[in-house]
Amino acid sequence: MNQILIAPSILSADFSKLGAEVTAVTEAGADWIHLDVMDGHYVPNLTFGPAIIKAVRGSSDLPFDAHLMIENPDDWVAQYAAAGADSITIHAEASRHLHRSVQAIRDTGKRAGISLNPHTGLECLDYVLEDLDLVLLMTVNPGFGGQSFIPSVLRKTERLRETIEARGLSIDIQLDGGINPTTIHDATSAGANVFVAGSAVFKTPDYAEAIANIRAGAERALGK
Ligand code: DX5
Ligand code: ZN
Repeated sequence: MNQILIAPSILSADFSKLGAEVTAVTEAGADWIHLDVMDGHYVPNLTFGPAIIKAVRGSSDLPFDAHLMIENPDDWVAQYAAAGADSITIHAEASRHLHRSVQAIRDTGKRAGISLNPHTGLECLDYVLEDLDLVLLMTVNPGFGGQSFIPSVLRKTERLRETIEARGLSIDIQLDGGINPTTIHDATSAGANVFVAGSAVFKTPDYAEAIANIRAGAERALGK
C-alpha cells in the first residue's frame, strides 16, 4: 500500500493569517496542504479560489492538494494548476463528461483525482481508474468542516482498495471528513492511505501534537 500521508485542511484555519497557518502546519509535520475550494453552488458554502492559493503558495514547500467542490470543473482546472496546485481533485457528481474532465487535469501535468460523495457508488470510476493518481472518498457530505465521520464509507474504501490492488495500480485513496486519531484507525484498516484533517488539526492548540496523534492512529492500525 502507498505511504500514509496527513493532509491538514486549511478550511478550519484562521483565515486572517492564512500564510502563517500554512507555514505552521508545514513545520508541524504535515505531508500535504489540503485546499477546500467551494463555489456556493455545488456545495452550500463559499471559500476561496486560485488567487488565494497563489497568495499562500510561497508559505510552504509541501504539495498543494486542491479539492474542487465546484460546478463546471473543466473550466477551472488550468487556473488551479497555474495557482500552484500539485494535485487537482474534482467531484464526479459535478462533471458531465468525467473522462474529459480527467484529461483536462492530466493536460495540466498535475496529479489527477476524482472525489465521490458518501452516497455515490464506485461504478463511475470503472473506466477512468487507470488515468487517476488519487480517489477521494468523502466521509462527510461536502461543504463544512467539523462534521461526523460516516462509517458506511469504510465498506466503499475496502472495495476500492481491492479493485486497485486487483488491477495492479498505485492510486492513493484519500478520506476526507471527520478524520481524527480514533476514526483514522478503521479508515486505515479499510485501505485508505491519505487523510484530510481540518478541525482535528486547526482546532487544537498544538498542531504538531495533533498531526502526530492522527498519524499514530493510522500506524496502530498497520501494527507499527
Ligand atoms: C468538507 C471538506 C473537508 C473538511 C474536513 O467539504 O472537503 O476537507 O475541511 O474537515 P473536518 O476534518 O473538520 O471534518
Ligand atoms: Zn476536502
